[in-house]
Amino acid sequence: MNRRNTSGILRIQTERPTQRLSLRGGFETVSTGNLMILADSQILWNRSLGEAYRCMGMATGDAYKTARPGQFVMVKIDSGFAPLLRRPFSIHRLIDPGDGNAGIELLYKMVGPTTDQMGGLRPGDSLSLLGPLGRGFTVPPELSRTALVGGGIGIAPLVFLASGLIAASHGPDSIGVFLGGRSAADLLCADDFSEMGLRVSTTTDDGSVGEKGLVTGPLERALATGDIQQVYACGPLGMLKGVAALAEKYQVACQVSIETIMACGMGACMGCAVKSKDTLEDRCRHACLDGPVFDAGQIILDH
Ligand SMILES: Cc1cc2nc3c(=O)[nH]c(=O)nc-3n(C[C@H](O)[C@H](O)[C@H](O)COP(=O)(O)OP(=O)(O)OC[C@H]3O[C@@H](n4cnc5c(N)ncnc54)[C@H](O)[C@@H]3O)c2cc1C
Ligand code: FES
Repeated sequence: MNRRNTSGILRIQTERPTQRLSLRGGFETVSTGNLMILADSQILWNRSLGEAYRCMGMATGDAYKTARPGQFVMVKIDSGFAPLLRRPFSIHRLIDPGDGNAGIELLYKMVGPTTDQMGGLRPGDSLSLLGPLGRGFTVPPELSRTALVGGGIGIAPLVFLASGLIAASHGPDSIGVFLGGRSAADLLCADDFSEMGLRVSTTTDDGSVGEKGLVTGPLERALATGDIQQVYACGPLGMLKGVAALAEKYQVACQVSIETIMACGMGACMGCAVKSKDTLEDRCRHACLDGPVFDAGQIILDH
């Protein structure tokens, strides 16, 4: 049932199975177990993290208190036509400053019309959020040693995941973080992870910070010790392919969060199709509904 309250918040209940456009034609039934909320949210802060990156805190009330690491929101700046479509952003972290302004924070890179406009917004402005959407990371109950691997803006959901792992009683010293970027300016959140007590390895393509090279270098050295049971990764496709190949080589479970182009975020447009390794009759998945987090062994990373 969908309900709009007096403040203009539309709650879209999807606990029950809903219909989505099938990648094989027609419609099929799906249940994401989500309560999606469409609402205008007021911006609390919009801080610069260097030339291209910003983090934006937004007041959402209790709308996201059950959101999971790896889930995302679809953002629209205003009701205008440019850009027409919402854009997806990972939930970077849940915020609760204790003054009644509970909400979420997004970490974004300015790369086009929506993110450029986001960069110009100020506290007190608002934008429209639809979320929380998608399936997030899962944490096996017996998990002990984990590696979080983030490349570029793919680091965005991993701060929320690290807090989730710690909240689920996985000690900070059991979590290793591997961050990669083109150069120092692209290496985000290392201090946030360190402040949580996590071990952080950094790599840059140009060697301006940390080890020169790809993030898969230190990751492979850690995997070779045999200590790691689970890898979580988010970043560019090439990085995800490299991480998934290493996880397979060392027989370690691996979940990847993928960034496809998304137009609707709700299973209606087929814009986010991902090839799965399933049978011929069921070869595709929607990144927006079945993901964006997948077991690396279940999909073909070439979208
Ligand atoms: C699940 C998910 C979570 C995301 N989380 C974040 C996040 O936390 N922070 C963040 O900054 N970005 C994130 N993104 C990417 C973000 O949605 C895009 O960068 C978005 O298109 C930017 O909108 P724009 O209007 O500013 O630029 P656009 O004009 O939409 O894009 C600028 C350029 O980037 C290309 N592009 C857009 N999306 C992708 C993509 N997925 N893969 C490759 N190229 C692309 C476009 O073709 C275009 O050339 C996420 C994407 C997904 C699918
Ligand atoms: S079906 Fe529209 S973005 Fe996934």
